[in-house]
Amino acid sequence: MQPVLKVQSLNKSYSARAGLLKRKSIKVLKDISFALAPYQTIAIIGETGAGKSTLAKVLAGADIADSGQIILNGQTIEDDGERVSGCRTIRLIFQDPTRSLNPGLTIGDILDDCLQFNTELTEEQREKKIRATLTLVGLLSEHFDYYPHMFSGGQLQRVALARALILDPKVLVLDEALSSLDPSVRAQTVNLLLELQEATGLAYVLITHHLSLVRHMSDEILVLNRGRVVEYGPTEEVFTKPKSKSMQRLLSA
Ligand SMILES: Nc1ncnc2c1ncn2[C@@H]1O[C@H](COP(=O)(O)OP(=O)(O)O)[C@@H](O)[C@H]1O
Ligand SMILES: [Mg+2]
Repeated sequence: MQPVLKVQSLNKSYSARAGLLKRKSIKVLKDISFALAPYQTIAIIGETGAGKSTLAKVLAGADIADSGQIILNGQTIEDDGERVSGCRTIRLIFQDPTRSLNPGLTIGDILDDCLQFNTELTEEQREKKIRATLTLVGLLSEHFDYYPHMFSGGQLQRVALARALILDPKVLVLDEALSSLDPSVRAQTVNLLLELQEATGLAYVLITHHLSLVRHMSDEILVLNRGRVVEYGPTEEVFTKPKSKSMQRLLSA
C-alpha cells in the first residue's frame, strides 16, 4: 500500500543559551526518514531527550523543521502559516487531556471550535459531525453538553481522541498519550485505538516508554538516539534481534 506519510531527511535544531552572552545551536533531529502506510502503526522509541517529542511536534505542525520533507498523501506539507495553525491531517494527542481542554466550554463547543475554524460546514452539519465523532470514540451523543470536569479520566482520553479525530486525520501522533492512564483504562483506550484503525485505516505514530504497548500495537519500530535513527524495522524483528545498543539497553532496562 502507498504510504500515507513519508518523512525525508528531517533536521531540526534549537538555539539554546550558552552562558550569559552567547547562544548555541543544538541539533535535536538529524536526518530522520521513514514511511508509514494506512492501517499501520510505527513506534518511535528512545531514551529521554532522544528527540521523540520534537519529532511529534514537527509532524503535527506545532513546530517547524529546519530542512527535510513531510509528505502526506503524496503532497509535501509547505511551511506556510497554515501549517502551524493546527489545520492539519496529522493530529497530536497530548499526554494530559484535562490540561488541554478549556474548563469553561462544553465538549460540543470545544469540538465545534475545531470545525468552525477549519471547515465550511453549516451549524447543523457541525452538530451532526460532533455527535457522530462522540459515538465513534465510545462516548454518548448527550456528552455534547458536558463540561470537562464531568468526565472520568478514561472518558477524557476519549474526548481528546474525539477532538483529534474531528477533522478526519489520516495520521494520529500519540506522544505518551497512554502513559498517564491507569492500566484498565489504558487497555480500553488501546482497544479503542485498534478498533478505530481497523475501521478507518488511520495510521499511528506511537511514542511510549511502555514496551509492552509497542509490541502490542506497532508494526514497525524506529529507535532514536540523540536525534538520529539507530534502528528501524519490523516490530518482532527489533524485539527479538535488536541491532542497536539503544534498543538493547531499552530491552534490558
Ligand atoms: N524548545 C526547545 N528549546 C531548546 N531545546 C529543546 C526544546 N525542546 C526540546 N529541546 C531539547 O531537545 C532534545 C530532545 O527533546 P525531546 O524531543 O523532548 O526528547 P524526548 O521526547 O525524546 O524525551 C532535548 O535535549 C531537549 O532539551
Ligand atoms: Mg518526550
